[in-house]
Amino acid sequence: MEPEQARRRASSSREPARAVALSSVDPLGASPRPTGVGELDRVLSGGLAPGSLTLLYGEPGVGKSTLALQVLLSTALLGSTALLVSAEETPAAVRARAGRLGTVPAALLILSATDLDDALAAIEEHRPSLVVLDSIQTLRAAGAPGTAGSLAQVRAVVEQLGEAARSSGAAVVVIGHVTKEGDPAGPRSLEHLVDTVLAFEGDRHHRLRFARAVKHRFGPTGELGLFEMTAAGLVTLADPGALLAAERRHEVPGSAVTALLEGSRPLLVEVQALVARPTGGGGRTSASGVDARRLASLLAVLECRVGIELAGLDVFVSATGGLRASEPAADLAIALAVASAAAGIALPESLLVVGEVGLAGEVREVGGVDRRLAEAERLGYRAAIAPVSSPAVSADLEVLRVTSVTEAVVAARRWRHGAPGTATNSHSLGAAPTGTLSAWSTVPAAS
Ligand code: TYD
Ligand code: MG
Repeated sequence: MEPEQARRRASSSREPARAVALSSVDPLGASPRPTGVGELDRVLSGGLAPGSLTLLYGEPGVGKSTLALQVLLSTALLGSTALLVSAEETPAAVRARAGRLGTVPAALLILSATDLDDALAAIEEHRPSLVVLDSIQTLRAAGAPGTAGSLAQVRAVVEQLGEAARSSGAAVVVIGHVTKEGDPAGPRSLEHLVDTVLAFEGDRHHRLRFARAVKHRFGPTGELGLFEMTAAGLVTLADPGALLAAERRHEVPGSAVTALLEGSRPLLVEVQALVARPTGGGGRTSASGVDARRLASLLAVLECRVGIELAGLDVFVSATGGLRASEPAADLAIALAVASAAAGIALPESLLVVGEVGLAGEVREVGGVDRRLAEAERLGYRAAIAPVSSPAVSADLEVLRVTSVTEAVVAARRWRHGAPGTATNSHSLGAAPTGTLSAWSTVPAAS
């Protein structure tokens, strides 16, 4: 059967649509139901809406199935019927994993199937309030051409699931793997067909995981849900700042801490840079967790506006913890991390760096600077290099207001912190590659 025919057949089996007075519609009709996973509810502004279709995507191994299983378990624990359609893992494997995550309530059903029609029949039969299908790449819609995972197939699967969600009132979540960028059957091609797109991210070699709504029909996007992958599944990361603090090496050249604002929550992240003489051709730039184009323009600013020679050198920059420091507010920290690495001089340990950098080397205002500074103060930071307009947030945090990257370099070098038990000057640490000793080295350190 052609997909067009299948759709027509599906719609002819329904009651014809009728117009009603808008005032008679229950405004709570689409209100979300909490998933029981607090960090996810935060991202979804309350939970999953009945009758909605959500695409949960992420790289293989990041923890999508684990997150979904935890949501299913907590939904079932609250007494609602929850259904997992597993097209990838055997029921025994899922059962073993569920057992490690907690109690397995009888209200959690599992269907091992790759045929979408079997899944639709199970939804029809059991009327679950939550359905998770794992994954879109392994489900097959009869009537659509191509093999499972092809563009035609994933589209047909998503369209039919959207229909099933609306008609059954279930919140339906379908998991998708992201493969390489530009995959035609990838999540971006499905975005307009679903109500919510949730990205689950994180470095597989690190414990930190984040959930963010890329699209959300029922509320704002931008909130970040933070998790830690543990032996007992994903747990809420109560204090991400503390996690970062525990891993930071003290006073190493090339390290700067900035504060990102993820949704309403400030998050401190370390930016690391390494400037090295090339081993091969030279002049390579590598960015991880940092936008590559942004980095290229910041390197040009350092070279042309600050006088730091980087030409022909290899520059590596990364944001630690698998986080993405893609906000413009991270610019100045990236610039100072590179400057610090090039000069072989560490920034003070308890210094926060916040600010957007313009092409003239000027430091620009960033949004929510007060919240960023307050978070740094809470975590024991003693000073912050920040744009001129920044307010004072606490007597314990000295705000060093700067108008340019050059001023920031000078401020970092001059500020002498009094954190107990830590070294104050560390310019003997590390050695800069020959020929890179920058303007920074000529700024006298505080005495
Ligand atoms: P998984 O949810 O299967 O990832 P995805 O569905 O995105 O491919 O889990 C990924 C990894 O998480 C897996 O390699 C093992 C690890 N893990 C834990 O560390 N703790 C746990 O409790 C579970 C269930 C998995
Ligand atoms: Mg999986």
